[in-house]
Amino acid sequence: MRIPPLGKSKGKLIAIFAVVAISILTAGSVKTGYAIRSKSAFGQSSIINFVRPGLVLKVLSASIGADGTAAAHVSLTDPKGLQLDPSGVNTPGPVTVACTVAVMPAGTNDFVSYTSFPVTSSVTGNSGTQVWFDEGGTLSPVGDGTYTYTLSMKAPSGFDVTATHRMGCTSSRDLTSFGMSTYYSADTLDFTPNGAAVTAPHDVVRTAACNTCHYDLNYHGGQAKGVDLCVMCHVQAASDPSSGNSLYLPVMVHKIHMGENLPSVQAGNAYKIYGYMGSVSDFSDVAYPSDPGQCATCHDPKYGATQSTYYYAKASIAACGACHDDVNFATGLNHPGLVQVDDTQCANCHWLQGELPLDASIKNAHINPSALNQDDWSWIPGMVFGNLQVTNGTAGNMPTITFTLKDKSGNAIALSELTKSPGRLYAVLEFGL
Ligand code: HEC
Ligand code: HEC
Ligand code: HEC
Ligand code: HEC
Ligand code: HEC
Repeated sequence: MRIPPLGKSKGKLIAIFAVVAISILTAGSVKTGYAIRSKSAFGQSSIINFVRPGLVLKVLSASIGADGTAAAHVSLTDPKGLQLDPSGVNTPGPVTVACTVAVMPAGTNDFVSYTSFPVTSSVTGNSGTQVWFDEGGTLSPVGDGTYTYTLSMKAPSGFDVTATHRMGCTSSRDLTSFGMSTYYSADTLDFTPNGAAVTAPHDVVRTAACNTCHYDLNYHGGQAKGVDLCVMCHVQAASDPSSGNSLYLPVMVHKIHMGENLPSVQAGNAYKIYGYMGSVSDFSDVAYPSDPGQCATCHDPKYGATQSTYYYAKASIAACGACHDDVNFATGLNHPGLVQVDDTQCANCHWLQGELPLDASIKNAHINPSALNQDDWSWIPGMVFGNLQVTNGTAGNMPTITFTLKDKSGNAIALSELTKSPGRLYAVLEFGL
């Protein structure tokens, strides 16, 4: 993961580096039981056993009052379950909490944030919308060692009390004064403001899929962890007005992993996003260790997402066009002339799996051709010219050639098939053999 693009952690980073240096100089550090990636792995075991570094935040429940006031009931503990004192007086290290809340409007599968704000690019002067945690709320004790975080931003008047909402909170525990680092923990909870059970979930991709490659997927200096939290801010409306790029999660994640293979990048452009304080992340050189067309790497149902079929069932201009960024659906450019005005027709042609390898269905279009059985081309329908007749074939005249065109099973092939895929494919593969 990159250096934190957001948040107030620059000063802390310097402190962390200093601490690392001190820790390395501290001779005689004993095995501590902390992961080698953790700075605590280098600490004195006596201090560590006292401080018990680490942090676990849990969102226990969430509510939105009639006036739009949103609150999260949270527990803050160390990894062994000891309740922490956020002021850092009774237990080591001050703890901060910040939350964001979003609604999934009925009939949609996308979150709309209640903590979004307008942004203006200092580079282009263009404006856009972004989302961050509500950091200006208040944390008050409940009395049993747990806390309520009340957000300062309110849900808009008339908000739908029956719609699925998600509360997402993040917290930090600053142990730098003990020679350790700042620890982060985040959690989300789906709820319905009227108290009814949640019946419409959002569960398209699970973090476990990402963690097959990433170490404990997190971003923004550790403040954001888990795909369930990323989707709350990386909403459809979110964009980077400096580059013009979308921050919408499916678009951003698809594009990042296409990286150097993005048609726009291959055409010589860069895929960049401007982050915190004007820092620029350039993903044009991401060399993904898998084939981005292998959708199952992230969308396999084995990771447990209840909406794991959506990668084909909800094909869309945004999600598909992210990787295929040379397709203009409004004009039909690079989409065999087929103009698409919205997402309603996509799944009619791009269903999960058709009969022909390499047809327009999602699985077959994304088969890596090198993975096909090179010894078995029997699936190719083939093209058979027959009944060839030449008339008017005398000197000075224009000859007319007539023939039949059928596949290997004897089905007629229309000439119009030859100009389009997979018609093109029958020919290319048949004659290429
Ligand atoms: C097959 C391996 C693989 C999987 C699975 C994977 N990623 Fe990545 N991801 C990468 C690689 C490689 C990079 C580029 C790292 C670099 O250049 O710094 C990357 C980069 C990123 C970045 C850009 C920031 C960074 O760390 O450089 C984000 C954000 C990201 N991935 C999110 C995700 C999410 C979310 C998922 C799950 C939905 C996911 N990744 C699944 C391999 C993977
Ligand atoms: C609380 C809101 C919020 C959450 C949660 C969040 N992001 Fe972001 N993210 C933003 C904003 C705002 C930007 C753009 C501006 C910026 O980076 O300052 C952004 C930008 C990015 C970028 C673009 C590069 C960059 O450094 O700006 C990447 C990559 C990214 N986020 C990955 C993630 C991942 C992965 C997660 C989940 C683990 C996540 N974000 C969770 C708000 C959020
Ligand atoms: C590196 C991980 C990764 C890979 C590989 C990947 N996706 Fe995705 N995809 C995501 C993420 C993350 C989302 C957003 C999940 C969410 O909204 O909760 C997403 C969302 C989608 C959606 C939108 C679904 C909806 O709810 O509207 C579609 C469609 C989709 N992907 C199609 C594909 C296809 C087709 C492929 C393969 C050609 C693919 N994806 C490969 C990570 C990936
Ligand atoms: C994560 C990136 C990614 C996503 C998302 C994605 N594709 Fe692809 N797609 C690829 C790659 C890589 C290829 C193979 C290289 C190529 O031909 O461009 C490909 C090839 C194809 C092909 C074959 C085209 C040809 O010219 O060979 C079709 C059709 C296709 N994709 C349709 C879709 C549809 C429909 C969606 C959305 C449901 C989608 N793709 C989403 C990466 C993606
Ligand atoms: C009437 C059928 C039809 C509809 C509807 C349709 N497509 Fe396609 N699409 C095709 C065909 C045919 C191809 C070419 C397949 C090939 O080259 O193998 C294609 C190719 C694609 C490709 C690959 C383009 C490339 O890079 O070569 C993408 C991405 C794609 N479609 C996305 C979509 C999306 C998103 C929608 C809905 C907005 C959609 N399609 C609606 C028939 C359709």
